Amino acid sequence: SNIENGHVKWSSPSNIALIKYWGKREHQIPENPSISFTLSNCKTITEVTYTKKGDKDFSFDVYFEGEKNEAFKPKIQTFFERIESYMPFLRDYHFKIETSNTFPHSSGIASSASGMSALALCLMSIEEDLGIDYADDYFNKKASFLARLGSGSACRSVEGELVVWGQNESTESSDLYGVKFQGDVHSNFKNYQDTILLVDKGEKQVSSTVGHKLMFGHPFAKERFAQAHSNLAKLKDILASGDLKAFIKIVESEALTLHAMMMTSMPYFILMKSNTLQIINELWNYRAENDSNVCFTLDAGANVHVLYPADEKEAVLNFIKKELTKYCQNGHYICDYTGLGANQI
Ligand code: PMV
Repeated sequence: SNIENGHVKWSSPSNIALIKYWGKREHQIPENPSISFTLSNCKTITEVTYTKKGDKDFSFDVYFEGEKNEAFKPKIQTFFERIESYMPFLRDYHFKIETSNTFPHSSGIASSASGMSALALCLMSIEEDLGIDYADDYFNKKASFLARLGSGSACRSVEGELVVWGQNESTESSDLYGVKFQGDVHSNFKNYQDTILLVDKGEKQVSSTVGHKLMFGHPFAKERFAQAHSNLAKLKDILASGDLKAFIKIVESEALTLHAMMMTSMPYFILMKSNTLQIINELWNYRAENDSNVCFTLDAGANVHVLYPADEKEAVLNFIKKELTKYCQNGHYICDYTGLGANQI
């Protein structure tokens, strides 16, 4: 292309898995299907300025929250190497990548999903600037495909409100990119709330890269991967019927199974903190005493995602403020809810 320079900007949300992706093959192919709620408030905003250059090396600078950042460079270098055959212009331009998150720095909230999807979308827009015109659905598919090569779960952040990734017998899907869930969704799941309790903002003990590898030769891997398939089949029916009690069973079991896999791998890890368990117990008591449909899920860390229907918002937030913030670092939590996916700015 003879275009000398330009800039593009995208905002992309984080997502929270209901059925967990844990274990992958070469080229970021998941061992089992997963499904997630796309979030609204927890986002990465990324602007990429591109300038034509002469040599043929990858060239980019990264600015995180206004300051030049070296720590992200190796991950982006690897990402560029993985996607270069799908984005042949990558060596022709210098990229200034300016990125920031709406959630606090080092909050323990993974920014890889929102970050990698935002960057993938920026690169897609640059490709369009340079003269390639994609239909909307293909644009999203390819953006999700690229995002997957940055960080697996990032492929579920391009669209909303529910996204499936990984081949399965129950829903339309692909191993290569996330697909908007095509089944019926009951109104009980509209505007579903996710309040993230920040139990531990420290560095993760286990990176997800290491975590996925621990599923190689894991004694329970085969059963676990099969379970994800059957849980997805069940969840599909639950999402249609609006059965919140059944939803809770699947979602909490998935979170505990993810952690059980880490506890039973070699080496083994416990990523929950005592405050994580305190919160879970308080939540179960509250649910029993108030006939509530609140439940929890976890990522590969100690923070707790409290999930609940929109009509319980006031009651659950009062409960969180009163009983659960004492288990959070500096009392911090983030209110979020389901969203529609990324946006060009
Ligand atoms: O996208 P990765 O490689 O960081 O893996 C994330 C895996 C979990 O967050 C633990 C589960 C999931 O499905 O998001």
